[in-house]
Amino acid sequence: MKRMGLRLIALNRILGLLIHCWLFLLESKASLFTLKDDSENSSSSSSSIALVPALFVMGDSSVDCGTNNYLPTFARANHLPYGRDFDTHQPTGRFSNGRIPVDFLALRLGIPFVPSYLGQTGNVKDMIHGVNYASAAAGIILSTGSELGQHISFTQQIQQFTDTFQQFILTMGENAATTLIANSVFYISIGINDYIHYYLLNVSNVDNLYLPWTFNQLLASSLSQEIKNLYNINVRKIVVSGLAPIGCAPNYLWQYGSVNGECVEQINDMAIEFNFLMRYKIDKLAMELPGANIIFCDVFEGSMDILKNHELYGFNITTEACCGVGKYNGWIMCLSAEMACNNASNHIWWDQFHPTDAVNSILADNIWNGRHTKMCHPMNLEDMVNQKPK
Ligand SMILES: *[C@@H]1O[C@H](CO)[C@@H](O)[C@H](O)[C@H]1NC(C)=O
Ligand SMILES: *[C@@H]1O[C@H](CO)[C@@H](O)[C@H](O)[C@H]1NC(C)=O
Ligand SMILES: *[C@@H]1O[C@H](CO)[C@@H](O)[C@H](O)[C@H]1NC(C)=O
Ligand SMILES: *[C@@H]1O[C@H](CO)[C@@H](O)[C@H](O)[C@H]1NC(C)=O
Repeated sequence: MKRMGLRLIALNRILGLLIHCWLFLLESKASLFTLKDDSENSSSSSSSIALVPALFVMGDSSVDCGTNNYLPTFARANHLPYGRDFDTHQPTGRFSNGRIPVDFLALRLGIPFVPSYLGQTGNVKDMIHGVNYASAAAGIILSTGSELGQHISFTQQIQQFTDTFQQFILTMGENAATTLIANSVFYISIGINDYIHYYLLNVSNVDNLYLPWTFNQLLASSLSQEIKNLYNINVRKIVVSGLAPIGCAPNYLWQYGSVNGECVEQINDMAIEFNFLMRYKIDKLAMELPGANIIFCDVFEGSMDILKNHELYGFNITTEACCGVGKYNGWIMCLSAEMACNNASNHIWWDQFHPTDAVNSILADNIWNGRHTKMCHPMNLEDMVNQKPK
């Protein structure tokens, strides 16, 4: 990994000049578009002009777009039926039938879908609109998810981002790179695996060592510290996604013997507590860190709204995954096309842990502007990116 990084840096030195020219062209092209759009119709300009230079993504399978395709692990989604309703109708490593929330948000921000760190060439031009470092099975705790094989832990993801930043500095200079990072959006979605693959599995006797509340505090403090580390390398705009109601996921309905699809309260309570604490920590961080724009988006609230009002949203299958085996299709993971329903659009759950593209779209709308229900505190992403620098 390290050797590859050095080789890439050497390569980038050589290509530096070329990329400078390319960036210059890109900028002049962008300003042409701006002029054109302003004169034609100012209200539609936001859809064709990038609102931020780039989107960087860190987290777990909720936002992995292909990292794990390159790792020896069971936590992989690079086979059908994953991706069958994606733009390319091909599996990409996304844990859904179609898009994941960060895809919808990239479009809102006016930038292309962001490539996975391990899935691109390492050229700055591939990373200029952002990079996705997220890796399925990763958690806040380093060893979370290890029983499934390899993954890139959250701390390693931040190190990879630091490498990207170094490459940006080498090719465009420190000022330009720092400005790019400060103006870009960072989306962080992590923590659920610390319950699924750590706490609830009683790894290292964790149940005896920590009560849920203490475990929550450990997670929330670690995540806050990592956010501070990002801030220290000039990251300023951060979206932290809360934990989803994983107690309603088909796997837990099956595992805990849910009779009529009632969610497992004991598991949901942990997610609620984490979200409560994280939201408080982020309020505190936002006050502590000058110039920082950090928002917390409570995916739990948005998901419960979808579950409760599922008919309004067009979902009539709310407990059974589209793809899987066993009661609620929650017993065995989604392994082949034959295990999937015909049409996922009326399902909330795609596989035993992950929602469908349709749900991801609703959640992304809420993160963007609270379209269906207000999820983000103290403001939505759209307001955050339109805010004047403090
Ligand atoms: C701009 O476009 C929007 C939607 O396409 C339209 O509603 C609006 O009237 C247009 N405004 C102008 C000034 O043309
Ligand atoms: C967790 O594991 C320890 C032994 O490693 C055991 O004593 C404890 O009862 C377990 N807790 C639960 C809830 O199973
Ligand atoms: C859900 O709705 C579809 C049509 O949209 C229908 O074909 C299907 O039978 C319904 N399923 C249930 C479980 O109600
Ligand atoms: C799935 O069903 C929805 C609504 O019933 C429909 O609009 C859509 O075209 C269907 N998709 C596929 C792939 O059949």
